[in-house]
Amino acid sequence: MTESTRTAKASKLVSREPLDPAEAVWIRLMKTTYIDPLGVERTWESAERPTRPPTSPIDGVGIVTILNKPTGPELLLQKQYRPAIDKIVIEVPAGLIDEGETPEQCAVRELKEETGFVGTAETTSTVMYNDPGFCNTNLTMVHVRVDMSLPENQNPQPQLEDNEFIECFSVPLASLFEETKKLEAEGYAIDARVGTLAEGIELVRKLGLKL
Ligand SMILES: *[C@@H]1O[C@H](CO)[C@@H](O)[C@H](O)[C@H]1NC(C)=O
Repeated sequence: MTESTRTAKASKLVSREPLDPAEAVWIRLMKTTYIDPLGVERTWESAERPTRPPTSPIDGVGIVTILNKPTGPELLLQKQYRPAIDKIVIEVPAGLIDEGETPEQCAVRELKEETGFVGTAETTSTVMYNDPGFCNTNLTMVHVRVDMSLPENQNPQPQLEDNEFIECFSVPLASLFEETKKLEAEGYAIDARVGTLAEGIELVRKLGLKL
């Protein structure tokens, strides 16, 4: 398969049906029993990823990479088809932690694989829970610095796996909020990590916060 056919657009939904938990490889269904503050015993249904290496404190990382363009800083984003919602989603580069890897090492590796950019990990966020009413997945956002003057970052080439169809692009950080609105109007779904970054920038702008 040539790189030109590896776009996010080419996927097509065939069918969707309930999954027998016994067949599931990537997801485990859980039932939690707990006693609420009034002494009532209750249960909660949720999902877990069985893939987390026992040594790893979190499931994965989200990667914040700012490309310093002559026109101003831009956030590196990607378009990826997500079968669960049958939409192409606007996401930050991200990935699951491999055995023996730190979150920082995972972020640098995933950035190179998914976008081709070579970078160095800087700050990490708190541990974040993606959707704690539904699953126990957690991640940290790792800021990876990309030096655009390095030869290896002049024409970055992703090294995608067979089942990955990812397109990279970047948007000016200052207009991220407006850009996500535009992308949504064009039919893309906005990942919560991207949407929350956009919200943060919009709040700073709207409230004129001095940082
Ligand atoms: C991430 O979530 C798992 C499952 O809830 C938990 O065991 C682990 O301690 C969490 N990681 C951190 C660093 O809090």
